[in-house]
Amino acid sequence: MRRVLVSGASGGLGIEIAESLLNDGFYVVMLCNKNKSRLDSLLKRFPDQSRGIEVNFLDDVNYDTLKQEVGEVDSIINCLGISSSQISWKIEKSQWDKVFDLNLNVPFRLAQLFIPEMRKKKFGRILFFSSIVAQKGVVGTSAYSASKSALLGLTKTMSSELAPSGITVNCISPGYMDKGMISEVSDDFISTILDTVPSKSLGKSQNIVHAVSFLLDEKADYLTGQSININGGVI
Ligand SMILES: NC(=O)c1ccc[n+]([C@@H]2O[C@H](COP(=O)([O-])OP(=O)(O)OC[C@H]3O[C@@H](n4cnc5c(N)ncnc54)[C@H](OP(=O)(O)O)[C@@H]3O)[C@@H](O)[C@H]2O)c1
Repeated sequence: MRRVLVSGASGGLGIEIAESLLNDGFYVVMLCNKNKSRLDSLLKRFPDQSRGIEVNFLDDVNYDTLKQEVGEVDSIINCLGISSSQISWKIEKSQWDKVFDLNLNVPFRLAQLFIPEMRKKKFGRILFFSSIVAQKGVVGTSAYSASKSALLGLTKTMSSELAPSGITVNCISPGYMDKGMISEVSDDFISTILDTVPSKSLGKSQNIVHAVSFLLDEKADYLTGQSININGGVI
């Protein structure tokens, strides 16, 4: 049975990805922070195929212990992330550092943790989540957009390093989706955002779910180092 680690599994996109992978027969280790209760129904429905682990990555996490708790995985989907809105000349260093820790350092560290076993097995799938915000100049998003841009460079470098070991590294860059972080955005701002989207609608989260399944497939072994934009046609 293929074993997948999903960070941010209690989030709007993470939970749908986890559910789809469970339905497809994967063993899924789901990481969450404050909202473990959101995982309850999946843990109940798939008792032999799932595990939920609470971890706050802003605490001093012992990664070796976490690795033991997670066990072996052949794929990592880094859905965890936080948004941040503050104008660049006002953002505090502590906020900047927190956003970089959660959006960049933790996804990298989680991937790094499991690479040695993937290399031994000559198989692995690593997915990062960037954002449309990393590609556009959205006012008030300096820390978020910079941290998400860094993932694009990281994807390219790691994919080159790991391709000889049968490990693909890709990034999904969602546009404005109908689940998850969008719940923090006011209706007025959503309608302003939609003016910039050719499809004039929020994206259905199932678009992301399908892309994840595709990228995880054993047959998708020549698709690496890419950022897949799922954004309703924003260029
Ligand atoms: N939804 C969108 O429209 C959209 C657009 C562009 C990019 N993205 C990216 O796609 C990914 C998933 O987004 P989403 O909308 O599903 O986000 P979300 O609903 O806000 O979920 C965020 C996830 O990160 C976890 N998390 C936050 N702080 C954490 C911490 N300190 N330690 C451990 N886990 C922590 C949360 O755990 P708890 O809930 O348990 O606290 C939650 O599972 C993110 O990387 C996001 O930047 C999303």
